[in-house]
Amino acid sequence: MRYSEADEVQGKAYDSALMRRILTYLTPYKKLVGISIALLLLVSAFQLAPPYLVKLAIDNYLDPDSPLTMGARYGGLFKIAGVFVIVLMLGFAASYAQDYLMSFVGQRVMFDLRMQIFSHLQRMELSYFDKNPVGRLMTRLTSDVEVLNETFTSGVVAIFLDVFTLLGIMAVLCYLNLRLALITFLLLPLLFASALVFRAKVRKSYRLVRKRVAAINAFLQENITGMPIVQIFNRQKRQFEKFTGLNKKLYDAHIQSIMAYAVFFPTIEILSSIAIALILWFGGSGVIEETLTFGALVAFIQYAQRFYRPISDLSEKYNILQSAMASSERIFGLLDTSPRITDPEKPAPIPAKSGEVVFENVSFSYNPGEEVLHDVSFRVAPGEKVAIVGYTGAGKTTIINLLSRFYDVGKGRILIDGEDIRNHALSDLRGHVATVLQDVFLFSGDIAYNIDLGEESISEQKVREISRHINAEKFIERLPGGYHEKVGERGKTLSVGERQLLSFARALVYEPRILVLDEATSSVDTETEHLIQDAMKKFMAGRTSIVIAHRLSTIRYVDRIIVLHHGRIVEEGTHKDLLSRGGLYSKLYELQYKDQEKGIY
Ligand SMILES: Nc1ncnc2c1ncn2[C@@H]1O[C@H](COP(=O)(O)OP(=O)(O)O)[C@@H](O)[C@H]1O
Ligand SMILES: [Mg+2]
Repeated sequence: MRYSEADEVQGKAYDSALMRRILTYLTPYKKLVGISIALLLLVSAFQLAPPYLVKLAIDNYLDPDSPLTMGARYGGLFKIAGVFVIVLMLGFAASYAQDYLMSFVGQRVMFDLRMQIFSHLQRMELSYFDKNPVGRLMTRLTSDVEVLNETFTSGVVAIFLDVFTLLGIMAVLCYLNLRLALITFLLLPLLFASALVFRAKVRKSYRLVRKRVAAINAFLQENITGMPIVQIFNRQKRQFEKFTGLNKKLYDAHIQSIMAYAVFFPTIEILSSIAIALILWFGGSGVIEETLTFGALVAFIQYAQRFYRPISDLSEKYNILQSAMASSERIFGLLDTSPRITDPEKPAPIPAKSGEVVFENVSFSYNPGEEVLHDVSFRVAPGEKVAIVGYTGAGKTTIINLLSRFYDVGKGRILIDGEDIRNHALSDLRGHVATVLQDVFLFSGDIAYNIDLGEESISEQKVREISRHINAEKFIERLPGGYHEKVGERGKTLSVGERQLLSFARALVYEPRILVLDEATSSVDTETEHLIQDAMKKFMAGRTSIVIAHRLSTIRYVDRIIVLHHGRIVEEGTHKDLLSRGGLYSKLYELQYKDQEKGIY
């Protein structure tokens, strides 16, 4: 996986079209969101109350010149203290309920999104995965979804709360004393300016951190998968040095962002202290001149302290919002890429018929302008066994890819029993044509699971039957757990030959009419070779078979051989015919198969 531009944080902090689309995910939870917003207003109101209560207490009951009786003053004070506690408790309850609700909704949305992305990925054609590295797609499903969730839980919600609180405080301050309120607001431009600078700095270093994390991930992925090569060629020291460089860069990027924080928050502190000094001076003068009550001054100071916190929070929230926007843009980008290989409007059913395969003037290119198959035509009669041979890169695997519609042909068409394969539902086609790929992929799970792939309609009895038929039972029963032996990741614990036999069993349990097999190139020991050849003979019996052959012994069993060269069919015929013709096949045979026949692998 290489680091790519697509993984970078970019774009605006707020994009209304994007936001509207994000919000559509909330539609199923409208009621909960409504309650949550109402609670938010309550939380905000409860946050405004305490300083005002303090003011009431001071001005009404603590004034030494108060005309009230001692009893009335104690009573009033007690009442206010009580309300104070109740307000705090209600505020706590509202905040708790609000937090819980919003997190709940956020988790639901994440759940829905992950389902949507995964099912979308399952429908994408293979060429999509050629272009999008695994690491990137995994990021979409995991961290991008996670970041998007923050938009709901901390981003948008907290911003609402901060804005409500700010406006509330401003209103109360103006109500208490307009002149002093304006003095408090004097420092606001400075505050916003420093927030702006901070935001730009943090944004830059945040981007840098992401970029460098991506670089480290790419490096690690390569080096962990390639560990055998690193060790065989003693590259540890070099790779370690490279990693040190990348690691240092990431460290620097983090330090840079820490610096921004370390400067910003003290700046806010200083500004807020200056504001309080101003309030003390002007407000205090007001108290002396009796234009302001003492309680109002105390309330002012408390509000001013609460006033500056949300502003500094806001600039952090801005960054959250920005990365959420970037994440959602990438997620939606993925969701908006429609699969190009899809079922037709009205899929034609595949009749349980003979299983004739025809390639009709098929041309194909993976990348525009680089055609790998040129005008390929051939017919495989029902029940016929055909081998395709040719040099590496000739286009043999491509033929298989086209037949299972992993990719669609560029020109020409592919017919099964006279019907263009594009007229069938993909699931029908793939149920009808069993494909055994060159690299056998094993899922984590046990042996039985790797044969039936979790299909419940296939009984264990059948799995055993097929495995016995295909010569796989012997090795399976040698495993300590037999059919329930766990297979390690990618089946590393099984040999190449064993994996081949498993893949045959996997294809056979579906009793396909047509069989397509890309023979593994890696050589196996003579005994396994023998087992595999015998299995293949049984495997192909009574089925239309197309085998990409790398082994002489395989070629012996087929009816006809097609020779592919640079994406063109150059020769076609039986082994004998082709040998006597003295063309490319006889050359290939000389080069490749003669040695094998002599037993020189
Ligand atoms: N996914 C792909 N994207 C781009 N080019 C590809 C892809 N797969 C194969 N090719 C190219 O297509 C040509 C034919 O490949 P392939 O069919 O795998 O050959 P073979 O199986 O005969 O060795 C090669 O030049 C190969 O590099
Ligand atoms: Mg191949």
